[in-house]
Amino acid sequence: MSPADRIPFNDLSRMEPAVKREIGTAIQRVVDSGWYVLGPEHDAFEAELGAYLGASEVVLLGNGTDALEIALAAVGVGTGDTVVTVANAGAYATIAIRQMDATPLYCDVSPETLLMTPELFTTVLDAAQVVPKAVVVTHLYGGMARVDEIVAIAHARGIAVVEDCAQSLGAQVDGRQAGTFGDIATTSFYPTKNLGALGDGGAIFTNNAELGTLARRMRQYGWASKYSIEFDHGRNSRLDEMQAAVLRVKLPHLDRWNARRRDIHAQYRAASSAAARVVGAPDASFIAHLAVAVVADRPAAKAALAELGISTDVHYPIPDHQQRFPTRRPAPVSLPVTERAATEVLSVPMFPELSDAEVERVSAALASLGA
Ligand SMILES: Cc1ncc(COP(=O)(O)O)c(C=O)c1O
Repeated sequence: MSPADRIPFNDLSRMEPAVKREIGTAIQRVVDSGWYVLGPEHDAFEAELGAYLGASEVVLLGNGTDALEIALAAVGVGTGDTVVTVANAGAYATIAIRQMDATPLYCDVSPETLLMTPELFTTVLDAAQVVPKAVVVTHLYGGMARVDEIVAIAHARGIAVVEDCAQSLGAQVDGRQAGTFGDIATTSFYPTKNLGALGDGGAIFTNNAELGTLARRMRQYGWASKYSIEFDHGRNSRLDEMQAAVLRVKLPHLDRWNARRRDIHAQYRAASSAAARVVGAPDASFIAHLAVAVVADRPAAKAALAELGISTDVHYPIPDHQQRFPTRRPAPVSLPVTERAATEVLSVPMFPELSDAEVERVSAALASLGA
């Protein structure tokens, strides 16, 4: 197979030419403006993203991990607190929880969706020695957890809900956007995300004005006003004008790109079998950030796809509780579905610019794993 026939896992250079041109114009506008941080592009994107999401407060940040840290701090997570989260989502929530000097309490995931469920969340709460301060619900791979039920359980016990929408921006249930169910939500604009910048970026969004204000203070040194610090957990984490201008160009295309991803995913799902089960719901609650197949023999499946010229990746190979943190190692815990998934998940190419022929090749390859 020639290198030209390989299907890349992702290829950001395939951005639509018209969008590329518009981004060029937007960047030139910022260069000419002489205003590079917290200026008009930032303010406009905050308003436009808020309108899209149905969130009264949007706080644009440097990346999605800062967003998680600030969201946790805003809902009051601090030293010695416990925060429930899953251990199969790349450790971003774990890192943020640890940065707050808090401890993650891990919840296993559903074998069907690989997401937290209300039932598993309840089991964790019932077995816990303490009442956790918060739960981070990660809407993984583009799919939404049953967050409304999780919120009801959490709020009944005084637990704050942070929704991590880094992989689910634009997913909806009953017309309501992911991230608008809990107390506060976070997202990332890392370039490969469904709404990706040309560099790092992130955001918090919420309909709670108090949490929005707190987050806005924390992203800029903890200032109440210029040079006057009145809030803890201050840092510098601001989305710059260049990235805000880029994201303003891309946001109006997000639903169309998500629809194309969903369409590709439907074709993969049709090729799904017991030997290569493609994860994800066939409705608006899923925006196909990643196309993940569960395979019994991952090395063999990976090799077979490579032979057919198809690039793959693994999201994620090491569960959070098995990461080798040099200090404060997570306590041993048994998470059977999470641990098994870490050995069985295999991601295949998923981006809107895949050609129809490429999608057909990946679908046929997935089908061949079950043959
Ligand atoms: C689920 C999830 N949460 C958080 C993050 C962190 O975002 P960032 O890379 O912008 O810090 C990412 C992605 O990178 C992610 O996939």
